[in-house]
Amino acid sequence: MPDDFERMWSDLAPIGRSSSSGGYFRQPFTQPERELSDWFREQAAARDLEVETDDTGNLVAWWRSGSGPGVLTGSHLDSVLDGGAYDGPLGVVAALAAVDELRSRGVVPERPIGVSVFVEEEGSRFGLACLGSRLATGSTTWEQARVLRDRDGVAFEEVVEGAGTGLLSGVGTFVELHVEQGRDLVDRGAAIGVASGIWPHGRYRFDFEGEANHAGSTRMEDRVDPMLTYAMTALAANKQARLAGSSRATFGRVEVTPNGTNAVPSRVLAWLDARCSSEVELADLVGTIERQATERAGRDGTSVEVTAESVSGAVTFDADLAARIAADHESGDWPLLPTAAGHDAGILSAAGIPTAMLFVRNPTGVSHSPAETASMPDCLAGVHALAETLERLAT
Ligand code: HGY
Ligand code: MN
Ligand code: MN
Repeated sequence: MPDDFERMWSDLAPIGRSSSSGGYFRQPFTQPERELSDWFREQAAARDLEVETDDTGNLVAWWRSGSGPGVLTGSHLDSVLDGGAYDGPLGVVAALAAVDELRSRGVVPERPIGVSVFVEEEGSRFGLACLGSRLATGSTTWEQARVLRDRDGVAFEEVVEGAGTGLLSGVGTFVELHVEQGRDLVDRGAAIGVASGIWPHGRYRFDFEGEANHAGSTRMEDRVDPMLTYAMTALAANKQARLAGSSRATFGRVEVTPNGTNAVPSRVLAWLDARCSSEVELADLVGTIERQATERAGRDGTSVEVTAESVSGAVTFDADLAARIAADHESGDWPLLPTAAGHDAGILSAAGIPTAMLFVRNPTGVSHSPAETASMPDCLAGVHALAETLERLAT
């Protein structure tokens, strides 16, 4: 009898978990993530699922049943730095458990059902969100990806064999189950939701250049301090996002050179994560922030250069597929929700694969944090919802 959801969930709990924060450090191509991939292969083998992989390390475990384009479901196993347990792994473990449920009910799919794991969904190491699924769909090429470097200067081509191609050739439909990263479901009192779309969003590196100098002997009026230009830009980003209504702007990562206590820094690198409900608003928001940063740099005598490192366009999921999945359940129709969180499902949808997402209620809405959580009953409701969905799509 394969391990059930709760046993699989407890298998994963200690892997890559920080003893101090309780958060997860499952960066791609590191020991914890390799442990997770090995675990996934074991679980697939225990279910006689045929594992395929590409040179990037993306995985698909196939339940070869019936014929024709397959129904793929799955998510990612990598995490953000100090992330939660559910973002990613919930969709992978639920997919394995959903296969078990279908088999226990004697369902014989008329189409193959695959369980997928895409690498580097978070872009937490190489900076490009959904790197694995972008390579698998060809929306990013090997030439573009191979030169991406992590914070230690390690290039992507040093940690993977090559690009992922062909892994998705047999896929007709993709469904990703994911913990909700927000409070829509908890506010509605619903355990399960269906995604209507993903907001456009991007990550932009701001290079603020100034002049290193002594923190004591340099008069305030003689300084060329990039920290000031950065600080004003961070406040401007927050203000502009608030003025724009529902938009989001975050500077969550900053690298100061030389990062000394008694020296005016020579350089500040800072990354903006910006998200809006439309591509026009996103362009306007980022443009305004860049313009204000440049104006301030003029006053500080510093310079600023902005580089877009990861841009994801607006995604509208296949409306008929979403409606078909959301309708006629014991609890009534599952609600349709937009999300401002990016997902591999967005990449596959943009690549032309009919795609849907199922959300599982998150009681606090918190994510990208050790505090991310979901109740076990809601996770099991997610497994059942995914099994029902796979049965609808594959029979
Ligand atoms: O950043 C995101 O939206 C996703 O969690 N990768
Ligand atoms: Mn995430
Ligand atoms: Mn995720």
